[in-house]
Amino acid sequence: MLQLDLRYLGKEIDFASYAEKVAEINKAIDEKTGAGNDFLGWADYPETYDKEEFARIQKDAEYVRKNFDVLVVCGIGGSYLGARAAIEALNGLFPAGKPEIIFFGQTFSSSYTKQVLDYLEGKKFAINVISKSGTTTETAVAFRLLRDKLVEKVGLEEASKAIFATTDKAKGALLGLAKKYGYARYVLPDDVGGRYSVFTAVGLFPMAVAGIDIKAFMEGAAKARLAYKNPKVLENDAYKYAIVRHEMWKKEKKAAEMFVTYDPKFVQLGEWWKQLFGESEGKGHTGLLPDSATFSTDLHSLGQFVQDGSPVLFETILKVKEEPAKVVIPHDEDNLDGLNYLEGKDLSFVTEKAMEGTLAAHSHTGGVPNLVIALDRLDAEGLGYLMYFYMRTCAMSAYLNGVNPFDQPGVEIYKKNMFHLLGKPGY
Ligand code: PA5
Repeated sequence: MLQLDLRYLGKEIDFASYAEKVAEINKAIDEKTGAGNDFLGWADYPETYDKEEFARIQKDAEYVRKNFDVLVVCGIGGSYLGARAAIEALNGLFPAGKPEIIFFGQTFSSSYTKQVLDYLEGKKFAINVISKSGTTTETAVAFRLLRDKLVEKVGLEEASKAIFATTDKAKGALLGLAKKYGYARYVLPDDVGGRYSVFTAVGLFPMAVAGIDIKAFMEGAAKARLAYKNPKVLENDAYKYAIVRHEMWKKEKKAAEMFVTYDPKFVQLGEWWKQLFGESEGKGHTGLLPDSATFSTDLHSLGQFVQDGSPVLFETILKVKEEPAKVVIPHDEDNLDGLNYLEGKDLSFVTEKAMEGTLAAHSHTGGVPNLVIALDRLDAEGLGYLMYFYMRTCAMSAYLNGVNPFDQPGVEIYKKNMFHLLGKPGY
């Protein structure tokens, strides 16, 4: 399903020398004994997930698909990035059919918020509010505004039938609201952190409403789980990727990894990937800065720096195999634009050549290490496989760097300052 191509890395890595360390960390992940061990629920989740809830998600999603024009997903960070990444990667940026999925509650921007609220005017919308803590300010403020709008439009009783809440099973303000008003409820398990939650209801409900085959998505994750819980480093590409990252940081003194794709439909996958690695690894003044770019678009902006700027980064290219959408370059009698040499060629062929040319330019000419991750199939199963692969890589990579992959203490500091400035009681 997935291969690592190390030919453009510009260095040999002695993976075997990590055998013992990797096996030890793998055991700690499997047996839940490492740092942050109470947040390792994601590792077996593709097997252990709640099948009754899964069936309910499918049924409710069908109801939303039939009865609403728009689903507004209200959440921030790990409570929306996975769903958004998966929906855009699989459905593209301009999917036909309904319902439309809109993301909300991920910003305090008044212009964005106002625009969305205005956009919903006259539309039949449902809400999926997602918050593990139930108290995240961006999400809570947006949900209050949205709820008001819905209640005003359809009344309290109908509004309650159009709200789906994903939160902790036992605590939090959102749980209180959901219970009081009788919203449909899904659980974000205690032992799964936001950025590892795409295989829970957090990712699954919006994806199912978007028409994605979530069963296949989970099957892909389950296959990846079997492949990447293998303690033998030489047979485990997730762990090899973690070692490449570790060596780039520790030995090559790189400061950043650039996640590169060749399609705008993967921009949000890059956002999800950045949160996963950034929040998991960026601790104690260590770790690689996760960065992302879409080529060839960004070759016209960042390309100069990657090729010729400070040698601070390495690139990881995600190459996906999929049936290309047929877009053939037409003949032009005048050929004033000089493009007839491309006549009859498909755009996917041009993309492939752009990728080959860029790999050679950056790695050979520019001396920038490049790693290629090739995914055999971009469909729900393939994407589930890929996202689990990244999660397993991330846990190993953070442990190799000696940090807890599952906490995010640094995120709290801005919140405390903001709450103080906003006059929140107790701050
Ligand atoms: O990964 C994380 O833990 C964070 O990004 C959270 O998901 C994010 O802050 C939202 O938190 P909550 O789901 O509690 O609203």
